[in-house]
Amino acid sequence: MPAQHQINIPINGVVMGQHPTEVIMILSIESSCDDSSIAITEIATKKVLYHKKISQEAEHSCYGGVVPELASRLHAVALPEILAETKPYFDTLKAVAVTNQPGLGVTLLEGIAMAKTLASLLKIPLIPVHHLKGHIYSLFIEKETQFPLLVLLISGGHTQIIRVESFEHMEILATSMDDSVGESFDKCAKMMGLGYPGGPLIEQLALKGDEDRFDLPVPLRNSPLIAFSLSGLKNAVRLVVEKLGGASEMSEQDKADLSASFQKAVKRHLLQKSKKVFAKEPIKDFAIVGGASANKYLRNAYENLCKEFHKTLHVAPLQYCSDNAAMIGRYALDAYAKKDFIDPEEIDIVSTKKQQAGMLL
Ligand code: KG4
Ligand code: ZN
Repeated sequence: MPAQHQINIPINGVVMGQHPTEVIMILSIESSCDDSSIAITEIATKKVLYHKKISQEAEHSCYGGVVPELASRLHAVALPEILAETKPYFDTLKAVAVTNQPGLGVTLLEGIAMAKTLASLLKIPLIPVHHLKGHIYSLFIEKETQFPLLVLLISGGHTQIIRVESFEHMEILATSMDDSVGESFDKCAKMMGLGYPGGPLIEQLALKGDEDRFDLPVPLRNSPLIAFSLSGLKNAVRLVVEKLGGASEMSEQDKADLSASFQKAVKRHLLQKSKKVFAKEPIKDFAIVGGASANKYLRNAYENLCKEFHKTLHVAPLQYCSDNAAMIGRYALDAYAKKDFIDPEEIDIVSTKKQQAGMLL
């Protein structure tokens, strides 16, 4: 392809950017759960030139959650389909980055196999990316990093507050003892027969509900622990559903009221524990990331909390809250600058045991 040749690649039907071929890029891949996504990020400008995500929500919806083997099979179809669109960029690639932990083993493997092949064929370095660090870097897509930062990560797999000093130094200050925020939304939605993913469905229904109708317990309210727990609240929701005769007997208004009451209890739990962290941590900048950070009710609550504690709230653009390859690419830009590479023969998914410990960043 001649130098300066312009390529327009549609992203879900939208042209995101153009590039001359001498510009250098990183290709990033995300497949840790039920989203197949690939992005191309320009190294010098940090611009996302291509980004595509194929979600599997419709396929998993009837199961009320992600079925790993089904997810893996769908990645095996979707990832090569997306990769084919990025071929015009191949001669500009300087590295390939891939999520290698934490996540579902069988789905991580799909992305890793593709990344290894690309790195070997194109003879470019391979960058392993920790998914949660990717979520943190979703804040910096097309921007410079801003540290130090306190981060609340609320996703389908994790609920954590992390002190982020720099690329190298991230420390978990509070973590979940059981269900994560996203998981609890998904499970409560399933109990009410709403579908998957539950987060956006509950948030929408809650807009029409009375958040004071059901007196649900705020988890760990009287505990000095700085930690998160949502399984007790989930069980309280289950009892209400049973009392009302099950999902099929509940009216739309019952579901809206229960959604609103549940969301209020989650908010109060998150805020109560966050306040305890704020009281100890002088860092001025605070961010919420992860799939559940798209929730406007929670965002508004944190806006008010940050005002009260004189902190500045940061959030990622809505399209980059849930899993995506652009955030993996943004993290990879900093990893590339630090030559944080791995031998393709050595990259592997991190074992489940290490993943659990790997709640440690
Ligand atoms: O970050 P993410 O895409 O995947 C993981 O890394 O786990 O998060 C997905 C989770 C799902 O559990 C989904 O229900 C939740 O994020 N979620 C929400 C909202 N949008 C997505 N939870 C609450 N409110 C939302 N608006
Ligand atoms: Zn995620």
